[in-house]
Amino acid sequence: MRIRTMMIALAFTSAATAGRAFAQGADGKAVYDENCKKCHGVIGNPPKTMKEKYSKIATFDAKFIEQRTDDSVKKILNKGKGEDMKSFKGKLTDDEIEAVSKYVHELAAKHKP
Ligand code: HEC
Repeated sequence: MRIRTMMIALAFTSAATAGRAFAQGADGKAVYDENCKKCHGVIGNPPKTMKEKYSKIATFDAKFIEQRTDDSVKKILNKGKGEDMKSFKGKLTDDEIEAVSKYVHELAAKHKP
């Protein structure tokens, strides 16, 4: 009887979590494709035209991301960096910033320098 109650409680909790994830569920890839891809490239490799335009543009690869925490990416998105990497505060929600910084990490970790 106890176990059953626990199972039900568990089922409830995971359904609630899943529901929440879905409701807030910013899709990191979608946010990236819409807001970052044109400068940073599909897999984090900026296209040649962008490299020519922005000499300091970051390539997201395993080496780059090793030196960054999720928080550091979020900070950049909130504050911006330099003239060309604009702040996304106000343009993206906190959830979207969270999701896209996670996506940048995943992308970069798979991307060998
Ligand atoms: C208009 C082009 C452009 C767009 C759009 C853009 N970036 Fe950037 N990004 C840059 C440039 C240029 C830099 C290099 C800035 C510097 O180092 O001065 C940069 C740097 C960065 C860095 C590295 C900062 C560091 O730690 O050195 C991160 C992370 C980053 N961008 C993430 C993103 C994400 C995520 C998005 C989409 C939400 C995005 N950028 C959209 C141009 C862009």
